[in-house]
Amino acid sequence: MQRRARSLWDSYGRVADDLRISVTDRCNFRCIYCMPAEGLKWLKREDILRYEEIVRLARIFVERYGVRTIRITGGEPLVRVKLEELIGMINAIDPTLDITMTTNGVLLRQKAQALKDAGLNRINISLDTLHDDRFKEMARSDQFTRVMDGITAAREAGLWPIKLNMVVVQGHNDDEVVDFARLAHSEGYEVRFIEFMPLDGDNIWTNEQVVPSRRIMEQIEDQFPLVPFNDTRPGPATRYTFADGAAGGIGFISSVSQAFCTSCNRVRLTAEGGLRTCLFSLQETPLRELMRSGVSDDHLGSVIEGAIWRKEEGHLINKPGFIKPAKSMSQIGG
Ligand code: 5AD
Ligand code: SF4
Repeated sequence: MQRRARSLWDSYGRVADDLRISVTDRCNFRCIYCMPAEGLKWLKREDILRYEEIVRLARIFVERYGVRTIRITGGEPLVRVKLEELIGMINAIDPTLDITMTTNGVLLRQKAQALKDAGLNRINISLDTLHDDRFKEMARSDQFTRVMDGITAAREAGLWPIKLNMVVVQGHNDDEVVDFARLAHSEGYEVRFIEFMPLDGDNIWTNEQVVPSRRIMEQIEDQFPLVPFNDTRPGPATRYTFADGAAGGIGFISSVSQAFCTSCNRVRLTAEGGLRTCLFSLQETPLRELMRSGVSDDHLGSVIEGAIWRKEEGHLINKPGFIKPAKSMSQIGG
């Protein structure tokens, strides 16, 4: 018998209904704001959740707790073999789910069509610069041309609209924000400007490198007047369309200058099966060994409910008491 889903409430009155699943901690890039040049200590293969295990947890979130959006992240999710099979398995839980993915785009020429066919609905592609030489410096990869072609491949496969994520880092790519707005305007992408968060593996983050969304917005509006876009389901991005009616859009993720913790509806599952209620959580709830020890879905459900109930009120970046999590973005899942 199908039971009625009930919501995952936390003690501050928020409901978690957006599940982010990291499928690997590995990546073929080394973005300066995420990973050290030499990489990190990778998880052992047996410590990473198998697709069946991910799907079991996803099913619990969907069927018991009414989760409607599942985002696949990494590391770089497409370095995991046959990722399209996982998308198909999640889609089979409920074909009306909104399944999305965040990728660095480098493998999309090979994968976009298979992902679309398996049930992927939407895609966010990370892109921080429009210059090859700078790409080498920021992503520490020479694959700029392949990423740009990957974006085209996603579009051709019908993964549309496409969101481009740009992490703006002062002194690295802040002079390109208007060029990105122009790209959104001419090509119909939604470009999302993301404030640099202290989740880098190299400990290079300083508040001086954060470019506040307000400053980016001022620069863009000089050339491309914007009008606020009211989301039917508000998320962390403040979104705008172009006043002249062009197809694309602009979004700001102001995680540092204007934290959106009070309306956060996210919950994260790491590649090793840890439940994280916040990017900045200092501890997580390990589910892998519990699952492997043979507990029931009821048992897992009660552990999940308890973890969400204890979700922290919000992060403390730039406030006394802030402690940088030991994990980088690639080990958490964006
Ligand atoms: N601050 C902000 N965004 C980050 N990302 C990775 N590391 C950071 C950071 N330190 C972004 C990536 C990707 C998304 C998953 O998170 O660019 O688009
Ligand atoms: Fe890889 Fe994404 Fe981290 Fe860049 S931000 S190193 S593409 S996981």
